[in-house]
Amino acid sequence: MADNHKTGAQALRSARWFAPDDLRAFGHRSRAMQMGYAPEEWKGRPVIAILNTWSDAQPCHMHFKSRVDDVKRGVLMAGGFPMELPALSLSESLLKPTTMLYRNLLAMDAEELLRGHPVDGVVLMGGCDKTTPALLLGATSMNLPAIYLPAGPMLRGNWKGKTLGSGSDAWKYWDERRAGRISDKDWVGVEAGIARSYGTCMTMGTASTMTAIAESIGMTLSGASSIPAADSGHIRMASECGRRIVEMVWEDLTPRKIQTRQAFENAIAVAMAMGCSTNAIIHLIAQARRAGQDIGLDDFEKASRKVPVIANVRPSGDKYLMEDFYYAGGLPGLMGRIRNHLHLDCLTVTGRTLGENIAGAEVYNDDVIRSVENPIYAEGALAVLKGNLAPDGCVIKPSACEPRFLKHTGTALVFDDYPSMKKATDDPNLDVTADHVLILRNAGPQGGPGMPEWGMLPIPAKLVKQGVRDMVRLSDARMSGTSYGACILHVSPESYIGGPLALVKNGDKITLDVAARSINLDVGEAELKKRRAEWKQPETRYARGYGWMFTRHIKQANEGCDFDFLETSFGAPVGEPSIF
Ligand code: FES
Repeated sequence: MADNHKTGAQALRSARWFAPDDLRAFGHRSRAMQMGYAPEEWKGRPVIAILNTWSDAQPCHMHFKSRVDDVKRGVLMAGGFPMELPALSLSESLLKPTTMLYRNLLAMDAEELLRGHPVDGVVLMGGCDKTTPALLLGATSMNLPAIYLPAGPMLRGNWKGKTLGSGSDAWKYWDERRAGRISDKDWVGVEAGIARSYGTCMTMGTASTMTAIAESIGMTLSGASSIPAADSGHIRMASECGRRIVEMVWEDLTPRKIQTRQAFENAIAVAMAMGCSTNAIIHLIAQARRAGQDIGLDDFEKASRKVPVIANVRPSGDKYLMEDFYYAGGLPGLMGRIRNHLHLDCLTVTGRTLGENIAGAEVYNDDVIRSVENPIYAEGALAVLKGNLAPDGCVIKPSACEPRFLKHTGTALVFDDYPSMKKATDDPNLDVTADHVLILRNAGPQGGPGMPEWGMLPIPAKLVKQGVRDMVRLSDARMSGTSYGACILHVSPESYIGGPLALVKNGDKITLDVAARSINLDVGEAELKKRRAEWKQPETRYARGYGWMFTRHIKQANEGCDFDFLETSFGAPVGEPSIF
């Protein structure tokens, strides 16, 4: 054992299960031997949980089935004892009605898997959108030494020699098809070429945003989040995670020592420079609250005003994808360029500071990772708007919408649910212009429920045929990080619980001014009071089960959408399980 070891073998948490000379420990040891392990393989060694979110329904994590063996190799090499624990796999593409309904379920799964098993540290294997925040939420609450292994982005898409980006090109070519500009055969070609390998979406969607955030908070090895899933460097990184977590157990390097307020400020600055997904806000607020840090919308707003978007990656950028970002120097290269906005003395899972991790980081392509003097967008990626329509805030991604909508007054066209909105927008005779404000309500945390990614409402078919590709859309929903357009999201409080969005009627005027960070409904207070008195809450969608519990305990978007009873401030800390 090296001198810097703070934890001795007798003090290992797993020793509570395996070391005592009693009947229960006899059972634990004999069952380990049932699996073919000799005592020499676990005695005095850190037991490392590997939370693996592989499943047959999870295309982004296909490689985790074999990658877990690389982690185990690293754990064994460093003198640990690996224990793979399958965790709920949240596939963004296949799980319905929305993965956000289940983020907190995976967070609970992770926390309780760690609490109930004889483990001393954990490697968290995730990447597809909600898996990253969910695993980190659970691990933060449990606070055992933890390292995050990002799945890595998939390879660039390709169709007829053209590069395709996850999500973004699906929306784009779908509109082309609706406009009759590409054939059915072309559409099938796009379908076959847009996801060419295992790994997460390779645009700067929620997956790449959240794994970059995990790295900038200090929860991954340096550079880990940018490595493409299919690159052999990803295998080596997996093995290194296994080696490093064993050392972290001996060093007692826990998430709360890493996840300070400054670490979250670093993550927010990096998110802005990356041109991040709007979903980052919700997940980061939830994670900060788990870590006991008071982070809110104002922190995003402050960073948004000073950190430019320098990652020229779609959808905020116009050309490149995550594979290009990796070749250009990856996240260490980007962090090196915004080092003046970072707290370089923050500790990371490497045992070194962020500043030490990125010392000497280089950028190899100045068009992919721009300099701060030549950004792709001078202000941050996100803007938080407030006003009488969203007293607790809402969010827009100015870097991904047509500039003419940054200051706009339009007439409201309101829909109370997705099916009626879809039917209307497909109607060639819909009474709508490109200046209208399309509104979808009852799509928030309780109303969805689960706040589905419906916020990029489809442009009405009639306007698509006229060549319109963007218009103002407003909802209490989220949108995919790969989406784009003048979409105002996360309106809080949500309409389902009677937020002002519930009071809007067709024909009302709505004014948004991104520079002033405002959004307002141009209707007098007396009329709003009358409408409020007449408003009735829609019926709940779930009368039993998980959905029922979700609706009762989910918090609003500006508070991170955690369950109230999972927040660190709720009740008293949970102790270690009894072993009798
Ligand atoms: Fe898994 Fe996009 S669908 S990351």
